[in-house]
Amino acid sequence: MTIKILSSNLVHITKILSDLNYHDGDSIGAQLGITRSAVWKAIKKLEEYGVEVVSVKNKGYQLKETLLLIDQAKIEEALAMPDVEIKVFENIDSTNNYLKKNIDPRKRKIYIAETQTNGKGRMGRFWHSPFGQNIYMSYLYNFKKDVSELNGLSLVVGMACLAAIKEIGIEAEIKLKWPNDGVYLKQKFMGNLIELQSESYGDSSAIIGIGINVNMLKDSSYITQNWTSLRKISRKYIDRTKLCIAIIHNLNFYLEQFTKYGLKEFLVKWQELDSLYNQEVKINNGEYEGISKGINEHGNLMLELPTGVIKSISSGDTCV
Ligand code: BTN
Repeated sequence: MTIKILSSNLVHITKILSDLNYHDGDSIGAQLGITRSAVWKAIKKLEEYGVEVVSVKNKGYQLKETLLLIDQAKIEEALAMPDVEIKVFENIDSTNNYLKKNIDPRKRKIYIAETQTNGKGRMGRFWHSPFGQNIYMSYLYNFKKDVSELNGLSLVVGMACLAAIKEIGIEAEIKLKWPNDGVYLKQKFMGNLIELQSESYGDSSAIIGIGINVNMLKDSSYITQNWTSLRKISRKYIDRTKLCIAIIHNLNFYLEQFTKYGLKEFLVKWQELDSLYNQEVKINNGEYEGISKGINEHGNLMLELPTGVIKSISSGDTCV
């Protein structure tokens, strides 16, 4: 598969069309300094990705629904992180996989894609990644710490993402579900998949993969979990470029704090955001059942078993 950076022409064409009016190929081309046939090719590409474009002779093109693509240049400008490689891809198998092939223990990298053909979820699950709707992002973050000191990283990543979502104005009661889900009324809208690698001198690299259902409205047979999206929750179309900026910004801050102080810095915050606290939960489809009592300083779930014994669970899936 050829991996392509998302072209800025595609980003700008969708921006022009996002007023949902007709725009003809000549005028779009003139605004972008490209030919009418280059505009036509870009429109064909959008259609191949499943975007509905109406095309009427003498009127031009019209999008059926607003579509703002992720603007790499805006992200770079807003974050001003010249040492970090930021790339937005049109199409990729999985941002985590691609980042793994390009790992560099001395450089931070952020890869984002408009669609993934082989998006990976936890426990070997598939992550549904339709074009132009959601966020599929992987952040390569290097720690001057051993892998064994990174317990609870996925919880911190979840908290940073929730803070970013609130920062862009979503006020609904969104929460976290141990160990890595973002939920609204028991429906999942976000997950993270962290892949760790030991480096020399006791350092480590983390590939932090984040998937957020942002503007997705349609059901898909690929999704087996009870799901929602930020657009369903807020009833607003969300500009994913703004959300990416907020996520990276918050991740930088949260990961810095985590590096300095560890998970203990976040225990109170977790309590505020914990959707499972005092709830009856099942771990790994019933391997354990009990009442969730929050997390400990290692990020383990504290489960009160029917016998009254508190069991500390270090990994697994939870359902209520
Ligand atoms: C889960 O809840 O199961 C974790 C989902 C993680 C999905 C993201 S999308 C970006 C990155 N690339 C992948 O292939 N997976 C993660």
